[in-house]
Amino acid sequence: MLNPRVSDLPDYPFDRLRTLLDGVEPPADMKPLVLSVGEPRHSPPAMIAETLAENAGLWGRYPPGDGTPEFRIAVADWLIRRYGLGEGAVDPDRHVLPVAGTREALYLISALVVPQKKSGGAPVVVMPNPFYHVYGGAAAVCGAEPVYLPAAPETGFLPDIAALDEKTLERTALFYFCSPANPQGAVAGVEALKAAIRLAREHDFVLVADECYAEIYDRDPPPGALQACAALGEGFDNVLVFHSLSKRSSAPGLRSGFVAGDDKLIKPFKRLRNYVGPQVPMPAIAASTALWKDESTALWKDETHVEANRALYRRKFAIAEGVLGGRFGFYRPAGGFFLWLDVGDGEAAAKRLWSEAAIRTLPGAYIGRPDASGRNPGGRYLRLALVDDPETTAEALERLIKVL
Ligand SMILES: Cc1ncc(COP(=O)(O)O)c(C=O)c1O
Repeated sequence: MLNPRVSDLPDYPFDRLRTLLDGVEPPADMKPLVLSVGEPRHSPPAMIAETLAENAGLWGRYPPGDGTPEFRIAVADWLIRRYGLGEGAVDPDRHVLPVAGTREALYLISALVVPQKKSGGAPVVVMPNPFYHVYGGAAAVCGAEPVYLPAAPETGFLPDIAALDEKTLERTALFYFCSPANPQGAVAGVEALKAAIRLAREHDFVLVADECYAEIYDRDPPPGALQACAALGEGFDNVLVFHSLSKRSSAPGLRSGFVAGDDKLIKPFKRLRNYVGPQVPMPAIAASTALWKDESTALWKDETHVEANRALYRRKFAIAEGVLGGRFGFYRPAGGFFLWLDVGDGEAAAKRLWSEAAIRTLPGAYIGRPDASGRNPGGRYLRLALVDDPETTAEALERLIKVL
């Protein structure tokens, strides 16, 4: 009765974690601290509640799939400003589409761009390893063969594109590329992005650049795939970028993001989404418009909610640097809000941290896949999301070093 592509999906990482910790009791005298989930817990900017209230009359309307002209303009302006794309480079109507958080859209894009067959045989969906679990689910349900590119220390924690052979490239329909990367926080430079785009055009596949951590960075703003397109000077062909307000504005509950890029993909994606894509409610579209505009209306750049958000993450990485020092291969990631710690055996460490220190962390193996030799590139690691306030973060890390 069930579609085996769905029933055979591996358990979601957080379900695996629940199973691992089932029956393991944390110490009764310690407050449980949850660092396993990448859910930002900074206060969302007040402008969300204000704009939602101002637009409360719109809850009674069915939201249009493409949002509002104001939303699309705010996004196009932001992209142009953020990535230096040049006046008019992004057409709000042709190049931008709102999505109800990027998770659903990252999944659904596979239904649009993965055919039953490619010229070289079964279609391939390429993704880094470890990876955001939705890429794997999307590949499996659309019947593609997943190809996992190791993103290990040897390649600066970025997927090694050069490892793809011609035969695989011929069959590739979709390539999920995440920068800044979840979990490692690695950031791809413009040259790496250009190389991926060139490959996509040469072999006619779609490069999906998952840039939802683009605004959480330590020093330099991470470059984006549209910026690399501009550097190549040949438009946005074969490229889609996915951005979200969940991390940038600490508003995961708003469920608001956008897709932008190749209009030959945006147009049919909009058509497909008319059937199945969840729309963003109108009051939420109004709040999102305000959030994307925030930087342009602030008097000083560092008054914006995004800079304040970034500053808070920087404070927490400084705390981590102080507490962990050189232990567990600690490094300060260029982007994102995760610590990716080499603890030898991530699963064993997660279990001990829960039972001895009441800290919930995610074993790296749960977001990786074993390679041909059976080695999971996430196996040695623990992922810690630094999403709480600095004091809680410090307490969690102090507990961690006592146990490990
Ligand atoms: C790499 C990556 N992409 C996409 C998402 C989806 O975020 P949202 O659906 O909130 O936009 C997440 C969320 O954790 C993520 O880590």
